[in-house]
Amino acid sequence: MKCYNESIDKDIVNRIMESDASNIARFKNHFDAINRELTQIFDSRVPLVEDIGKHTLLGDGKRLRPLLFVLSCHICHCHRPDLYRLSTIFEYIHTASLLHDDVLDNAEIRRKRPSANQVWGNHAAVLEGDFLYSKALSIGVRVNNIPFLTRLTEATLRMTEGQILEFAHTHDWNLTKDQYMEIITAKTAVLISAACACGAIISDAMAEHQESLAQFGLHAGIAFQLIDDLLDYTSSERVFGKPVGKDLREEKMTLPLIYTLSQLETGEKKRVESLLQNPGKTDDDYQYVMDRVRHNGALGRIRNEAQGYVDHATDCLKAFPDSEIKRDLIRLSQHIIDREN
Ligand code: FPP
Ligand code: MG
Repeated sequence: MKCYNESIDKDIVNRIMESDASNIARFKNHFDAINRELTQIFDSRVPLVEDIGKHTLLGDGKRLRPLLFVLSCHICHCHRPDLYRLSTIFEYIHTASLLHDDVLDNAEIRRKRPSANQVWGNHAAVLEGDFLYSKALSIGVRVNNIPFLTRLTEATLRMTEGQILEFAHTHDWNLTKDQYMEIITAKTAVLISAACACGAIISDAMAEHQESLAQFGLHAGIAFQLIDDLLDYTSSERVFGKPVGKDLREEKMTLPLIYTLSQLETGEKKRVESLLQNPGKTDDDYQYVMDRVRHNGALGRIRNEAQGYVDHATDCLKAFPDSEIKRDLIRLSQHIIDREN
């Protein structure tokens, strides 16, 4: 990849760090346009489809994926009029995957609301996910761009593989960091990467810029899931918008626990391992494991690693000259690390 100008990039990052509080507020116009599209085009002959869709889609979503698509188009100088409409493809696919994920996890809360599976039941939630995924494809085919659709469908295939891999490792307290990274890359980072790459593809950007944006999204996406799994141990339901400590209760091994087990001294490690193996874990057992994870340095280590992925994502944009849009992409990737929910 071409190195544009390293000193400029360091300078940009330093200035951006100073102003994290306004990092997200500055995207309000984009969010409004994305939300308008989501509201306008979300219609169906079947009232239940609309009811579940509105409840799920129009809740407290971050709109990270559509925003990354829009900014990726802009950095490639593409301002076509259907840009925001196309951006909804990534929100539809993401929301479809969450509807299915909530059924798998028997989740109760999503985006600060009762999850669709709780309100309408598992069958309706799965079918709504199918509807949203189909909706995304029906918008996508209208673009009439095979590389765009190829990237999109490859991403959803990998997402599904990632989710199945995670499912196959439920209760696996011996999951390694490499296996964990493979899961989070596939289930989360690949779609975020596709949102950025598709922006470049639809803009007819040169191959180097397509690859730069794909790699930017991939690294930002890995950082996103690292922080998501960290917040599951550190946040509160009010702030996070979903219950915390969920991964442990779902018997899901994530990096905070992988690092904790690798760091505990032998006696403590044995105690935690035997608690994890016990099928009848009590609330006190969960609390005990949560406390070990919170107080052994694993979380700081993960935050540093996530920052490393964001720094790498920033480096991936070196092929692009300095611009306000480039700074926005860097701000957004930094927000992934600084976010509280
Ligand atoms: C949430 O992760 C879930 C995902 C990132 C991906 C889910 C993917 C699928 C269900 C397969 C693909 C589906 C479609 C429709 C293409 P998490 O459980 O770590 O996050 P959470 O804590 O928010 O539940
Ligand atoms: Mg889940």
